[in-house]
Amino acid sequence: MFRKFNHWLAKAATELAGHPVKFTPQTLLVGNRSIVLQPARLGDTEAMVEIERRVYQGYAPWGSLAFTSELSRQHRLYMVATDDNFIIGFAGCSFNWVKNEAHITNIAVTPGYQQQGIGTAMIQTLEDVAIANGMLTMSLEVRVDNNRAQRLYRQLGFEESKIKKGYYEDNHGDALEMLLPLGKEEKND
Ligand SMILES: CC(C)(COP(=O)(O)OP(=O)(O)OC[C@H]1O[C@@H](n2cnc3c(N)ncnc32)[C@H](O)[C@@H]1OP(=O)(O)O)[C@@H](O)C(=O)NCCC(=O)NCCS
Repeated sequence: MFRKFNHWLAKAATELAGHPVKFTPQTLLVGNRSIVLQPARLGDTEAMVEIERRVYQGYAPWGSLAFTSELSRQHRLYMVATDDNFIIGFAGCSFNWVKNEAHITNIAVTPGYQQQGIGTAMIQTLEDVAIANGMLTMSLEVRVDNNRAQRLYRQLGFEESKIKKGYYEDNHGDALEMLLPLGKEEKND
């Protein structure tokens, strides 16, 4: 019992002390374009908000303040996808070293670049980083009526967990929580 408590305490201390989440930039070939996935910087937040506006018909659920705050926090990894240094997508993840759970906080790809594998590549990169950091599960919330994103998450192995009633602040819409177990199978790619 005491040993268990000590173990928990050590993990909680690590969580509080901060844990750097490292990520090496990567290049994907999408058609004849080289798309680079790289860590997001504070100067990227306006471009990230602009992508939100494009994918959500003028509405930016997070806005500049939320992105700036998230990018400044510990235990986070935010990446941007760039084409010729122009930001065309982003994805973010939080890491909980007490529960060993990674959580995708936000993801979007600007319309002209969707359905070419960029969203998949960003999620798989977050998965790889999560596994390398000892995470056992990856979770996310998605609006119950966002069928396109749900279909992609299912293709990537996420399973439905539960409905969170009134989760979204803007319209009190419901969220579907989805979970992906990590590190149980050898990845073939
Ligand atoms: C959800 C989202 C991030 C996915 O990004 P994406 O870059 O389009 O994702 P992918 O291209 O990897 O996958 C999308 C689809 O294209 C397919 N696809 C991937 N590469 C492809 C290619 N080269 N050619 C044709 N289709 C391809 C995928 O199989 C997937 O198919 P599906 O529609 O049957 O699921 C994007 O649709 C988006 O920004 N949506 C608005 C914001 C949003 O809803 N975010 C999620 C909040 S929880």
